[in-house]
Amino acid sequence: NVKGHLRSRLPHRLVTVLEEAGQLADRCEVPLFVVGGCVRDLLLGIENLDLDLVVEGDGIAFAQKLGEALRARVKVHERFGTAILLLRDGFRLDVATARTEYYEYPTALPTVEQSSIKKDLYRRDFTINALAVRLNGKGFGDVFDFYGGQRDLNDKVIRVLHGLSFVEDPTRVFRAIRFESRFGFRLGKDTAALIAGAVKMNLFRRLSGHRLLEELKLLLSERKPKQAIKRLAELNLLKFIHPKLSWSDRLDKLLAALEEAVDWYRLLYLDRKMEVWLVYMMGLLEMLPERAVKDAFKRFPFSEQEAGRLKMARVGCHNVIRRLASKRPIKPADVYHLLSGLSDETLLILMAKSKGETVKRHVSAFLTTYQHVRPILTGSDLKAMGLKPGPQFKRILDQLLDARLNEEVKTELEEMDLVKRLAALKTDR
Ligand code: CTP
Repeated sequence: NVKGHLRSRLPHRLVTVLEEAGQLADRCEVPLFVVGGCVRDLLLGIENLDLDLVVEGDGIAFAQKLGEALRARVKVHERFGTAILLLRDGFRLDVATARTEYYEYPTALPTVEQSSIKKDLYRRDFTINALAVRLNGKGFGDVFDFYGGQRDLNDKVIRVLHGLSFVEDPTRVFRAIRFESRFGFRLGKDTAALIAGAVKMNLFRRLSGHRLLEELKLLLSERKPKQAIKRLAELNLLKFIHPKLSWSDRLDKLLAALEEAVDWYRLLYLDRKMEVWLVYMMGLLEMLPERAVKDAFKRFPFSEQEAGRLKMARVGCHNVIRRLASKRPIKPADVYHLLSGLSDETLLILMAKSKGETVKRHVSAFLTTYQHVRPILTGSDLKAMGLKPGPQFKRILDQLLDARLNEEVKTELEEMDLVKRLAALKTDR
């Protein structure tokens, strides 16, 4: 029983929500469970606030009643017997009907049928994700472990529940590696053999570019993507990203440099959002010849912005690196203009790709200092000084910024002097 864990490891608000849900389930006379990743993480002592509830009975009807009781917004997906509850304080609960799924043919969407919690857990990916905790009846906090999930958590093993798991859903292979790398677990012997079989049978060919990309994004967003990519290589899976992709010393070094750059960035900007996966995708594409990159762009549905950044990383970076690394002296304003149009993801690959410290120093100065520099005088100040908005006005503001970046002006007075000089230049002409 993990009642104690629930109470001590989840935020108080969520414990109350679970208790209320349990009481409602008692009144409705349906067994209620919390399942999946959240239970796994609860037992591992890792924070996970994505609660998945499963009802042995009509999950949608239960979700609607729970939504009323908690005054939450309820979004229903009839086809899958699931609902999402959006609580007013930002928490979210997923509620589902316990179900079995049939696959008419491999990789098809499943046919769904209401069933017991035991069968519901059986259709899941790994034993460690197939644990449930009862929320009502006499056993609030009782663990339901039909498939040895707790043993595998202790032994640090990723194990599928049955031999057809990867046939039903080949993306699970990538999930296995993701969990292996996230938790420092290893694949069970049979599971590793099933993966080898899936590779031999080329099950991944049938996966759409969309599904594979979604899975890769998750994998590459983990803390240590280098290790996960190395595992993909060991298990002969890199070729499904592209047949020409393989492990090499060069990839090893680039990924190590990327991890260093990403870690540095995360320390610097704790709260800034960045698409970490995109940085590693840039790294992978870097290993491919031009024609293979074109294939990858056809296969994977990158958004326009992602595609733009990936292309920039591949073709635009060389010139920027060459200029930044050159022996010719370069002023802060020049660094600023070279880098200000680039995404943070591109800046990181630029740092990782460059040899020596010069480029890294410039990028670091740009991220930490130059990009935040603004002149003291604003457009309104310039108007107050009698300047009229227009192209010349804009040019003066730009020159003011450059002077500020290069520390040629430091005080407001110096800035005003510069503006007057620049404005006079125009009148003289
Ligand atoms: N699941 C599965 N097969 C998949 C995807 C998901 O069986 N291909 C099941 C697993 O039981 C999983 C649950 O659905 O625990 C929820 O899926 P998801 O939210 O993707 O996984 P989590 O285990 O919560 O992983 P994460 O911590 O990365 O969110």
